[in-house]
This record gives sequence, structure tokens and C-alpha cells, in this order.
Amino acid sequence: MKILRGQKLNLKDVDAIIVPTFTGADIAPVLRCYPEADFFIRRQGFTGKAGEEIVLNSADKKKSIVIVGVGQPDCLADTVKCSKKVISVLAANKIKKAVIHFLQDLEKLALGEVFWINFIDFLFISHYSFDAYKTNKNKQEKIDRISLFFDSPNSSNLVPHSFFKEREIIDQSVNRVRDLVNETPARMNPDFMVAEFERTAKECDLDILILREKELQESGYNGVLAVGKASPYESALIRLSYIPDVSVKSIALVGKGITFDSGGLALKSMSGMAGMKSDMSGAAAVLEITAAASRLKLPIIVDAVVPVTENMPGQHAYKPGDIITFNNKKTVEIVDTDAEGRLLLADALIMAAEENPDCIIELSTLTGSVAHFLGDAVAGLMGNNETLAAMLLDSGQRTGERLWRLPLPEDYKESIQSKIADLKNAGYGRASAIKAGLFLNEFTQKIPFAHIDIAGTAFLSSDNTFYAHEGATGFGVRLLLDFLQELEKNKKII
Ligand code: BES
Ligand code: ZN
Ligand code: ZN
Repeated sequence: MKILRGQKLNLKDVDAIIVPTFTGADIAPVLRCYPEADFFIRRQGFTGKAGEEIVLNSADKKKSIVIVGVGQPDCLADTVKCSKKVISVLAANKIKKAVIHFLQDLEKLALGEVFWINFIDFLFISHYSFDAYKTNKNKQEKIDRISLFFDSPNSSNLVPHSFFKEREIIDQSVNRVRDLVNETPARMNPDFMVAEFERTAKECDLDILILREKELQESGYNGVLAVGKASPYESALIRLSYIPDVSVKSIALVGKGITFDSGGLALKSMSGMAGMKSDMSGAAAVLEITAAASRLKLPIIVDAVVPVTENMPGQHAYKPGDIITFNNKKTVEIVDTDAEGRLLLADALIMAAEENPDCIIELSTLTGSVAHFLGDAVAGLMGNNETLAAMLLDSGQRTGERLWRLPLPEDYKESIQSKIADLKNAGYGRASAIKAGLFLNEFTQKIPFAHIDIAGTAFLSSDNTFYAHEGATGFGVRLLLDFLQELEKNKKII
């Protein structure tokens, strides 16, 4: 699907005209242009509330006219609701080409960038379905093109052409992450994930370093090796780097790449294991964010470091009681083989810190605990740096990929200590999301660090009314690309 800004209102080549109407804004321009809507607007008591819709035929019966409510211009939930409604109406009426005709005075409504980001993004990302395994006849009809046309004077300057190109790059990245995460775990195995990184590196001309089992052993990356011991696939640690000619900052991104989390010998229950193909959501997100950073030509070095493996039971599996020595000499006692994420992330954080980036942002489906108390629309943010956390919280507000900050209290560190090694990987008692954050922070060498736990938000078992539908959401992509774009603008010292 293409979304673009139309230069002229060209109604010849479209099947539907969408007319967005804001709560409290003057309806007269709408009625003047589409008088056939007058009767229905009165009869239905249409007020422009988000989600309201009127579908009617144009006077010549050649196209549909859809009046949709956009609600309050500064309410992100309204904007999202409206875009989702536009897509569902177009899909339900099998419409391929539509124009969105803004008639109300947008300058008076003072629509800001946040409105346009979310309005456009949710057109793109609501029009997603994972249909790779559906037979043809079930395939969802795809919309070809939506063009936006602004009637009110000067308003076309509000949204430049380049903005649409930018959002398309970002939103395609979201949908690509969804495809990767929704893929079956049989296909999306560690080899497939490595191949996906290689393919993207080639496509976007990025530097790539791939360590497989032999190199991991040589370098002492023993976390990912231990977790992957019962998998028939070789584990991997990948570094994918986007290095622009001119850069204002360097950022390391770390993403958890467990292509399936069975729990290992501490086997999960059937319901606990459902959806565990999504345990590589962090890896998929940082892959696509790095690719998007290069497509957007951001002046920021982005180093994505991703450990990839499967957590399986089996005769070679790592066991409770084992002790892993990391390549920074720290030792960790294994208490629970299902707390595997922090082990491979420790390897990745060590590698990421080597380049001494301005900050490390790590994205992982790490703990059920975070899903338990923040639900499926807010992710947990932890970290050791106030400026970095504040910037990420801001990006969360702007994109609707919301974060809630949890503390990393020094005194809680006691509960991650082991009696027989430096640290243990589980058995922490309460607040396990926070203690997992403290564990990771032990491997970041005091570099500004943010840990984002997306266990609740990356993959949904049922539709979420706010931002996404069942299955993979691509959470983190819009958030972190907004963060990188803001960093380019503000160059804040992290
Ligand atoms: N991958 C899971 C976390 C998870 C849970 C992700 C639910 C998505 C949805 C992780 O590896 C895990 O199993 N964590 C355990 C840790 C515990 C054993 C300390 C958990 O949170 O239960
Ligand atoms: Zn686990
Ligand atoms: Zn896991």
C-alpha cells in the first residue's frame, strides 16, 4: 500500500473519498463539498467523535463517500482509532484506491507532528495481516493507494512529501518485524535469523560480524552457548553496524534473539509456551531499526548486537547447578533454565560495551512479570541514566509505544547474588522484572543503559483495542526510530 500527498484533488481514479471530521470543528466546509452527506450527518447525530463513520454513495453513484470522526486533534488514542477505522472501512468495502480529503481548517485545529505521525503510521500498520500460510482464497484484499489532499489554505505545507517517505520506511520496518516474529519457529530458527541479518546487511550495505559456535567458544561468549546447547542449530552472536560518513552520536542496540523458548529443562507449561516463537522480537526489532536508520540516512552510528539461539530441553541441555563464566570473568549460577534471556544478553552487552557507544538500548521479551503488571500496551523501562530514560519516555508518548519506568534500587542487588558464584540467574524472589534489569546492568560497564522489557507488548494473544491486533506488534521500532530522529535534532548529551 502506498500513502502519498496528492497535488490536486483527483477523484477520477479513486473508489472512495474519506472525509475526516474533527470534534467541535466547523462542519460547513464538509457539507458544502459533499451535500449528499447532510441528511445522514443530521439523522445519525454525527459529531466527529473518533470512530464514528457514515458510508454513502456519491451523487453519481460511482464512489463511496466515507465521513469519519477523528475526535480531538491532540488525543493520540482518537487519532489511532480514526486511522484504524479508515482501514477497516476500506477493507470491508473492498476499496483499492482512496483519497482522504481534509476540508476543515487544519491550521486552526493546530495539528502537530504527533498527529501526523500517528495518523499516517496507523493507516500503514493497521493494514497488516500475516497471511503467508493462508490459501489464496482466504487472502485479505489489499488496499493499493491512499492519497491525502488538503483543502484548507497553507495546510499542505504542514506535511511535506518527505514526511510520507520517512513514515513509509518506518512503518514498513514495523510490518517486516511482524512478519519475522509471526513466522513459524520451525522456519524462523537460528540459521534463518542469521541469514536474515546477512540478507539485510547486503541490501542496506551494512557491516556485519557473525560469530558462530567455534568463534563463540574461542572468545568465551558462554552465555549464548550454554542456552543453545540442546538446540540442533548453532548459536550465534551478530553485530550489524550502520556507520554513516558523518555522525553525531553512536548508539548500540541489543535485542534478545531466542527463536523459541521452551523453558529448557525447566520446561514451560503448554499455556506458558504458547507464543514463545516471539522470544526473538527484540532481535527482529533491532535488525529492522538498524536497516531503517540507514534507509533514513540518520547521522548516527547504530550498532545492533544480537545473540541468537533456541532454548530447548535435551540430553545436552544446560542444567540448574551449572555455572557459566562470561568473557569478562564474571560467573553466574544457573538456577532456572527458563531465565535464559539475561544469559545471552549478558554476552551481547559485553560485546556492545566494547565499542564504547554513547548509550546502549536493549530490547527483550524478558519477564512474564512485566506483562503481568503493565499489560499488553505499555512496556517496562529500566536504566542507569536519567536523560536517556527521559528521552525514551518522550518517544513513547509521541508514538503511542508507551513506556513505564521501573527503578533499579542498589539494595535489591543483594537478591541476585549467588552463594557459589558472582550472580545467579533466577530465584530472586519478588520484583523479578526489576531484578532482571539489575542483572543486565552488571554487564554494561557504566555506559548509559536502558533496558526495555517488551514481554507484554511484543506479541498479543488477542486484539488490543488501542494499538495492535493479535500476533506480533513490532513494538519498539517506531519508538526507537523516533528516539534516533530526536537525537539527530537535539544531540542531547546522554
Ligand atoms: N521469554 C520469557 C519471558 C516471557 C514471558 C516473554 C511471557 C513473553 C511472554 C523468559 O525467558 C522467561 O521465561 N522468563 C521467566 C523468568 C523466571 C524463570 C525467572 C519468567 O518471567 O517467568
Ligand atoms: Zn525463558
Ligand atoms: Zn525467553
